[in-house]
Amino acid sequence: MKPKFNFALVALVACANFLHGATTVTIDAAKPGPEINPRLYGIFLEEINHGVDGGLYAELIRNRAFEDSRPPEGYAFRNGRWRDERGFDSGYSRYGYTTNGIPFWSLVQSGDAKGEMNLETTGGITEESAYCLRLNVEISNGGRVGIANEGFFGIGVKQGETYTLSLYARSVDGFDGPLTARLEDTSGNACSSEAEIKGVGREWKQFKTTLTGSKTDSKARFVLAAGAKGTVWLDFVSLFPKQTWKDRANGLRSDIAQMIADLKPGFVRFPGGCVVEAGTVETAYNWKLTVGPLEKRSERWGPWNYRRTQGVGLYEYLQFCEDLGAEPLYVGFAGQTCIFRQPELVPMDQMGWVRDNFLDVVEYANGSADSKWGALRVEAGHRAPFNLKYAEIGNENQGREFGERYRFIHDAMKAKYPEIKYFADLSWTRADALGEPTWDIEDQHYYNSPAWFVSHYNEYDRRNRSLAPLYLGEVAVTSGDAGPYRGNLNAALSEGVFLLGCERNADAVSMVSYAPLLAHVDGRTELINAPPPWHGMIYFDGTRVFGTASYYLWKTFAENRPNRSLQTLVENPDDKNFAIVGQIGIGTWDTTAEFKDVRVEKNGETIYTSGFGQSTNGWQSGGRGERGQWEVQEGAYRQSRAGRASSYYGDESWSDYTLTLKARKISGGEGFLIMFGRKGRDMYWWNLGGWGNSRYALEHSVNGAQMPIGPQAEGRIETGRWYDIKIALNKNRIQCYLDGKLIHDEVVQPPTEFFALAGRDETKSEIVLKAINLSAQPMTANLKILGAKDISSEEKITVLTSVSSSDNNSLDQPKRVVPTETSESGVASEFTHEFPARSLTVMRVKAK
Ligand code: AHR
Repeated sequence: MKPKFNFALVALVACANFLHGATTVTIDAAKPGPEINPRLYGIFLEEINHGVDGGLYAELIRNRAFEDSRPPEGYAFRNGRWRDERGFDSGYSRYGYTTNGIPFWSLVQSGDAKGEMNLETTGGITEESAYCLRLNVEISNGGRVGIANEGFFGIGVKQGETYTLSLYARSVDGFDGPLTARLEDTSGNACSSEAEIKGVGREWKQFKTTLTGSKTDSKARFVLAAGAKGTVWLDFVSLFPKQTWKDRANGLRSDIAQMIADLKPGFVRFPGGCVVEAGTVETAYNWKLTVGPLEKRSERWGPWNYRRTQGVGLYEYLQFCEDLGAEPLYVGFAGQTCIFRQPELVPMDQMGWVRDNFLDVVEYANGSADSKWGALRVEAGHRAPFNLKYAEIGNENQGREFGERYRFIHDAMKAKYPEIKYFADLSWTRADALGEPTWDIEDQHYYNSPAWFVSHYNEYDRRNRSLAPLYLGEVAVTSGDAGPYRGNLNAALSEGVFLLGCERNADAVSMVSYAPLLAHVDGRTELINAPPPWHGMIYFDGTRVFGTASYYLWKTFAENRPNRSLQTLVENPDDKNFAIVGQIGIGTWDTTAEFKDVRVEKNGETIYTSGFGQSTNGWQSGGRGERGQWEVQEGAYRQSRAGRASSYYGDESWSDYTLTLKARKISGGEGFLIMFGRKGRDMYWWNLGGWGNSRYALEHSVNGAQMPIGPQAEGRIETGRWYDIKIALNKNRIQCYLDGKLIHDEVVQPPTEFFALAGRDETKSEIVLKAINLSAQPMTANLKILGAKDISSEEKITVLTSVSSSDNNSLDQPKRVVPTETSESGVASEFTHEFPARSLTVMRVKAK
């Protein structure tokens, strides 16, 4: 195992005397680590949580084209719900959609005026926008008849801001308007100026006008009232803030886009995620439906329970990447729909269009003006190529069926575009399902608890460097510990510890991104039947936006990404005494098994031998929720009810012992668990035949959650065969033998709440130290900088902390947990610094 190689950065305390007994952080500037990818930190932008439609995309009208009444593509109405062939619910009916009405629009009728609003499924402005709305005004005097749109959980209007309204209308029966448009609050009071649309005639015609916000409201609605009797048809009713991010037409909401830009992402992975795979082949992401004039883009039902307008299509994604200065990473559908939604496969003999979508996306992004798809990009307004260099074939796909499809697409792509870097998502599939490695970058996704992320600080220390570098495309704490929005300080700091491990192993990890990025506070979506809803890193309502504590941690990391890490040793004097201490135990997971000849030796003396022939005195069976059946049979201690069961023996103070025993599986799908170092719910175990009897693994189990120790080994446990098991503990070293063969040899790091890693920022000639103190107490450390000259005595310090680790930001308190910056003097080659409780500290000091 590598030595602990943290970079502790000490916040400046003008005190040169080292503290005895304190943690020491030694940075060796003469020992650089691998180069860190300048594009290490990026974003994953998916249409989930109304992150794009209803969020980043500045369109304010929901169901602008009246296509929301279309049935979800590829689903059929079965047992009261729109389901796929295998019964998976599309979510359509649960989320306000209906084929019999006009979702998100309502009839406005007041006083004596009377009218009716109806859906028409033919006759709209284009084939793609064939649905439209018909408004019949029967009596127009003495009141108001019209239609109202509720927007995406309310329409956000800001006082003084101008909004561009565009709509198509036609009429009969002599109706020529006017139509009156305005924004209103929930009590019906105006939130904007009024605009009149005149001259509606028998043919479809586009009308444009503007509204100016007269008050700020995030839950306004849009009302379009008719001023005369007659019938009017409406289609593609669209309202945009005049000012969008970088003033792009069909643009993005400035405040949200700016929050993203502030992250300075090195790349953008888009458009998904599950959005790419979707629930049915018909709804799988097809970029060709997302380009060209808006009115000619085909909307599609999405896997996150709403219809995608495709307003942000391939062109807009690429333009956004360019505006951000980020590399686009396009993810495409690989012929297998989402594995969490009853996966469907495109038959191999019909995979042509799936492959061509990959080939053609490169031509669209990079092709010349005289190529078929390049011409379309030029027509949209971008003559220069977008220089797409990264393509990911599929997302979270699985199995040999995926492998076959992956290779079919990859081989065609590689032959035509050898310069592209190909990404394969191996989060849910074994690499060998794809055959020979044919990817340049391996994508892996991690959603887990704070404890998991902290315990995986060393995850990549021993990654085989001959394998493809990793892209950790979806990373986030998702457990309840992260608070209702997720991403609280606790989550942020744990993610930070994991990211330090990534920077430290920059030759194994080349890219990382948080997921999901965006969430409307009222629009968080779920995988049907699998609550809780998804979270975001950037939340918003109609008018406000905030980043979670995780947002600020990732932003701080991106802003302080060095060119290389520097060897950083964190040493706590108490660590020398760390040893694994506690009882022994035996158990099963999904088996029945028996155990005998259990012996514990320490310093050459036997301190326990089982005498199962006579009794099981001292053994305590049963952990929380276990239903094992333990009894002595024929001289062995037998567990004869299949399932999770354990039995423990010994003293909680036992250390440095060697445990030997024999074990035999009687029946079941796995093998044995052999415990040691057990104190209540904290224990270590050797899992023999875990994961469906495929592997041996050492794990640390704390309160029922398991963290791996070192790599797993392939292996199984045969039924009916006695195995000789030996576990030798030498302080914190664990050696595990099966039938005399050494399987694991691991040194367990002492538990720590303090992590640090230094690096060099070559552009600024600075040493950058990032340190995370998870403890609820401040931590004073001695800091040493070796191998550097001309260390300036001044340093800049950035600290992200708060009163409680459950603190987070919110719409009302958007800046509760944000970094603060100070500068201090007193830095030298040796100094002390107090790191605040539960904090990230970044120190930057000039040095050669
Ligand atoms: O980030 C949310 C979802 O999580 C993504 O769509 C998918 O890739 C993963 O399962």
